[in-house]
Amino acid sequence: AIDRHVGTPVESKTALLWEGDNGATASYSFCEMARLSNQYANFLTSLGVAKGDRVFLFLPRIPVLYAAFLGILKTGAIAGSLFSAFQQQALVDRLENSSAKVLFTTKELSARVAGAKAKLPNLQHIIIVDSPEFLGAIAKQPDTFACVHTKPEDYSFMLYTSGTTGKPKGVVHVHNGILHEYATAKYVLDLRPDDIYWCTADPGWVTGIVYGILSPWMLGVTMLVHAGRFDPDVWYGLLEKYKVTVWYTAPTAIRMLMSKGDAPVKAHNLTALRHLCSVGEPLNPEAIRWGVKVFGLAFHDTWWQTETGAMMMVNFRGMDIKIGSMGVPFPGLEAAIVDDTGNPLPNKTEGNLAFRPGWPSMMAAIWQNEEKYTSYFVNNWPASNASRSDAGWYISGDHAWKDDDGYYWFIGRADDVIKTSGERVGPFEVESALVEHPAVTEAGVIGKPDELRGEIVKAFVVLKPGTKPTEELKAELSEYVKKHLAGHAYPREIEFIDKLPKTRSGKIMRRILKAKEMGLPIGDTSTLEEY
Ligand code: PRX
Repeated sequence: AIDRHVGTPVESKTALLWEGDNGATASYSFCEMARLSNQYANFLTSLGVAKGDRVFLFLPRIPVLYAAFLGILKTGAIAGSLFSAFQQQALVDRLENSSAKVLFTTKELSARVAGAKAKLPNLQHIIIVDSPEFLGAIAKQPDTFACVHTKPEDYSFMLYTSGTTGKPKGVVHVHNGILHEYATAKYVLDLRPDDIYWCTADPGWVTGIVYGILSPWMLGVTMLVHAGRFDPDVWYGLLEKYKVTVWYTAPTAIRMLMSKGDAPVKAHNLTALRHLCSVGEPLNPEAIRWGVKVFGLAFHDTWWQTETGAMMMVNFRGMDIKIGSMGVPFPGLEAAIVDDTGNPLPNKTEGNLAFRPGWPSMMAAIWQNEEKYTSYFVNNWPASNASRSDAGWYISGDHAWKDDDGYYWFIGRADDVIKTSGERVGPFEVESALVEHPAVTEAGVIGKPDELRGEIVKAFVVLKPGTKPTEELKAELSEYVKKHLAGHAYPREIEFIDKLPKTRSGKIMRRILKAKEMGLPIGDTSTLEEY
């Protein structure tokens, strides 16, 4: 992504335009980023990091994150990223499961892991990137490095993501994924040499890695990174100041901008913008229409997942958009709507959104969980001798339907995974965090539809006998999850109830909680214990 430009005219071009939340700025050329990442690679090598080791980043969006990420890949180690809103429990789960050897973090964020070192015997080094010792050490490293050679099927980066049950799973990607990342950035984001590109996603999530580090730099494109929080005025200011041409963002951000009205857009000169794309949650028709009204451009929806590693359903810039549709499969992919056993369903029928396995950026493993990995596939995959046509299907976990023109339309998740402000939250993690609180006996967590955030996390909580169900306690429980699990995953709404609906085997029936919440029929309750 970086070294390929060294020795070409691109080397002196700006790779990274960075703006901090206090207005601080910095910029790095491709050549400078190449040298800096070499220093990180040398530093890691001096610590004994070798091919296949896991090195994690728990950092805000500062330039170090970008140089360190590339430095890790250069050593052949596997780069892992951790969203900066994670608190101790979320961090320990991920660092423990991956047996990470090195963690890069800041003074401020390091406090969240400090108390958990005993649980992480494999974590040999916690590198504080804003400490004088580290700054001294990195400055001394040579700025050349011979990249460790990797094969296409070698692991490159991993990200933890949530499902319905259990702890988050480590989705592992391979170096070969770059083919799919590159092709989609070129043809869907339409990135060209003169673009100033802004991907608003954090590298703690897959979009921030694939379309916020690797693919734009593969294409030699100048990228803007804003380290601060979402703020409509700041965002419009950045689009104007940096003359952003291509903007990749998410529906919740678009809806939040929309809720501030048209005047703030008109107050800025945004004529440099030429292409807008969106990902992460359903892009509502109103958001597209509003984009056309105020920017003169339509947001182009893209659909993909942490597991797919790159865009799968796309709306090309030159294609007629059907407002509300996710678009069409990227060329080379075979998509289908199938039933639970993998039989393709006719058009206009709801079913599982599925893909023929084997595309270049498809996840190669769930870290140390073969059973979970195989559970994504029906029929033959990943049988080593499966040819493409009998390889079965990768089942995405989303329900959708296809129209007669080959456009796909999103319906919803097939499981209990919550999407709040575009971020994926597993109900089990939130339930586990809640029951750690001394006042809680048990909890059931669902995604409650929300106009602005898509969904919010809602918890139904059974209190210990004798505990008073007060509003203060609700606030305390929300705060508890925020402080122990993650800043983005806390329940914005809590309801105390006497008893949770459960199956006879004791599983919480979140489907029933959701139906009740939304005033919908409860459906088949034959497996329920008395409720
Ligand atoms: O439910 C789909 C939703 O986000 C899920 C994947 O989340 P994550 O792994 O965090 O990756 C997000 C960014 C790549 C999907 O299973 N999703 C993603 N894009 C869309 C979407 N839902 C509707 N429309 C989309 N364009």
